[in-house]
Amino acid sequence: MVQESLQADSLAAQQRLPRHVAIIMDGNGRWAKRRSLPRFAGHREGVKAVRRVVEACKSRGIGTLTLFAFSSENWRRPSMEVGLLMDLFVHTLQKEVRRLHRNGVRLRFIGDRSAFDLKLQSLMDDAERQTAANTDLTLVIAANYGGRWDMAQAARRLAQRVEAGELRAGDIDAERLAQETCIADLPEPDLFIRTGGEQRISNYLLWQLAYTELYFTDLLWPDFDDAALEDALRSFAGRQRRFGRTGEQVEQNERA
Ligand code: IPE
Ligand code: IPE
Ligand code: MG
Repeated sequence: MVQESLQADSLAAQQRLPRHVAIIMDGNGRWAKRRSLPRFAGHREGVKAVRRVVEACKSRGIGTLTLFAFSSENWRRPSMEVGLLMDLFVHTLQKEVRRLHRNGVRLRFIGDRSAFDLKLQSLMDDAERQTAANTDLTLVIAANYGGRWDMAQAARRLAQRVEAGELRAGDIDAERLAQETCIADLPEPDLFIRTGGEQRISNYLLWQLAYTELYFTDLLWPDFDDAALEDALRSFAGRQRRFGRTGEQVEQNERA
């Protein structure tokens, strides 16, 4: 009896597994500060948490993981920190891509990569090419990404099509705009996680988060581990997503 109900619970949990998890990895600086270390030590430790969460998502069968690595506003940081972050980015790609590829992970980058130096840009291009056929987990890295930039570039593309005479202004609707935003080919995020205690979106996937379940934790990113992901997934599994309908409608749908 107990066994049966446990099985039913885990089945329900599986069915309520997000297909796409999007994370704001925040709190690296504070993690370091608490240890009287330079902020950079927190970023370095944060890479370990990235490795852990990629593994954890893959082993649970979550199809897509999107990580905010560097926002379009993070250029405002002291140039020393920005430089160290770029070095870490290059170093991490050089070191990790082969392993990710072996593990069946497909890598994608979103954001305006033209601002990065050419070496980093070519590492990003190579990583995408090399892993393009992998199907176990799609790992999207948002780098020099901003949700407003994403919407603006989508609008620009539509405007170009209008200029070219392929489309009329009156044809533009939410569906068409959505198709031009980043990662339009992937399912929208089901679960958003932000570590570090702040409860804000910080110009992350503004368009794509319209119906995403939001989860905030005080844990600092370098401390985020499998158990922390499990907590977030449990919270997600317990929520009723109504998408504008009534709770009764959703329950009826689930029974059918
Ligand atoms: C997130 O950690 C990493 C990046 C923005 C690159 P922070 O560096 O923002 O850490 P806190 O918020 O200062 O603790
Ligand atoms: C958001 O964190 C960006 C990343 C995690 C890459 P920030 O630390 O930059 O966000 P704010 O400035 O506190 O909103
Ligand atoms: Mg921060």
